[in-house]
Amino acid sequence: MQIRLHCIKFALIFTIFLLSIADAAAIINRPDGIDIHFSPQPKPIDNEIYSNLFTYAHLIDISYCITSIGGLSKPFRCELDCESRFPNMTLVYQWYFDDSVTGYIATTYSNIFNYNDTTEAKVPKKTIIVSLRGTRSIFDTYTDLKVDMVDYSNLRYKLPFCGKNCRVHQGFFEYFLHTLGNVHRILEKELEYENYELLITGHSMGGSVGLLLALHYLDLGYDKMTLVTMGQPLVGNKEFVHWVDNVMGSSFEPKHNTFNRKYFRVIHKNDIVTTIPHSNLLNVYHQFDNQIYLNCSSSTTVPFPGRVVDCGYGDNEYCIMKDFDGLGLIDFISRNYFQSHNTYFRRLGLCGTGLNKH
Ligand SMILES: *[C@@H]1O[C@H](CO)[C@@H](O)[C@H](O)[C@H]1NC(C)=O
Ligand SMILES: *[C@@H]1O[C@H](CO)[C@@H](O)[C@H](O)[C@H]1NC(C)=O
Ligand SMILES: *[C@@H]1O[C@H](CO)[C@@H](O)[C@H](O)[C@H]1NC(C)=O
Repeated sequence: MQIRLHCIKFALIFTIFLLSIADAAAIINRPDGIDIHFSPQPKPIDNEIYSNLFTYAHLIDISYCITSIGGLSKPFRCELDCESRFPNMTLVYQWYFDDSVTGYIATTYSNIFNYNDTTEAKVPKKTIIVSLRGTRSIFDTYTDLKVDMVDYSNLRYKLPFCGKNCRVHQGFFEYFLHTLGNVHRILEKELEYENYELLITGHSMGGSVGLLLALHYLDLGYDKMTLVTMGQPLVGNKEFVHWVDNVMGSSFEPKHNTFNRKYFRVIHKNDIVTTIPHSNLLNVYHQFDNQIYLNCSSSTTVPFPGRVVDCGYGDNEYCIMKDFDGLGLIDFISRNYFQSHNTYFRRLGLCGTGLNKH
């Protein structure tokens, strides 16, 4: 019953989205005057990134095990095979907020991505993981999701100034400040290590907050960083998004362990959450160029490697912008949005609900 009510709610919300998205699609324009019809064919990502995506998704999913009544236990135990998949991982910190994002910090000196480390480091590499989850009642939250933006001004320690017109979602920015206040001292301490990699991951709203967190640490100079978001909503206006794509290296090919491209924004076909909040007159949200697009049905947990593609442009007509173009209401209702949003290399978000099979 609960679920059915939710479905009806979706339909209503999405009708509203539909109208606003149709509007937005008509006015896509790149500020630098590049032809809007320029849509290069997306390219499949390489095998290493492909296999890493399963690991990122697993690390994200583990954050859902943290609830108001339970969580992970040390050294690194959870309902989702934490110990067997990540045997040498140490839980550093976990937190649960009812009214903000929930997550954990863990570290490992093991090579959890199975690559051949050819660098000759004096000390083993330490991977510091910050994993943030979305809210479980995502669609309730999006009903109430405000579109208001606030001015965004970066620290300008290591990164260029975003510009005086940069604006970001007010709610996500507040969650970011809350999260930063909560984790900063712990993270600074973990980052006092020469050979580190800072890996920030997040699903849904956790991804939006993760992005703001990543930008903060990048600005502080921690540039051995990887940010992986799945089903992440939009975060800011055109000025902000272009700056992000620039400083995070979105135009570089995804390659593991190079840090040229620091951001992988993974989008499942038909995941409408990756296209909201919708814009209004004063607050115009912009799609990122950064899109690793899963070109497969909402029920496909293991996409074929050739179906995981790098889109290159936010308005690429082969990718997410196309999914909501010219749709009728019936198409809208008949698509399984909830499933698209929660299916990223596994079914995300079941831990802690008693529904996962482990
Ligand atoms: C875990 O750490 C031990 C001791 O350092 C090491 O022998 C083992 O290979 C590590 N396991 C993995 C999967 O990295
Ligand atoms: C790493 O190197 C070993 C031996 O050279 C090779 O067998 C293995 O396939 C390589 N692994 C990757 C992920 O490239
Ligand atoms: C997705 O797959 C279809 C074939 O099912 C293909 O026509 C389309 O170009 C693909 N899109 C992307 C972005 O790869």
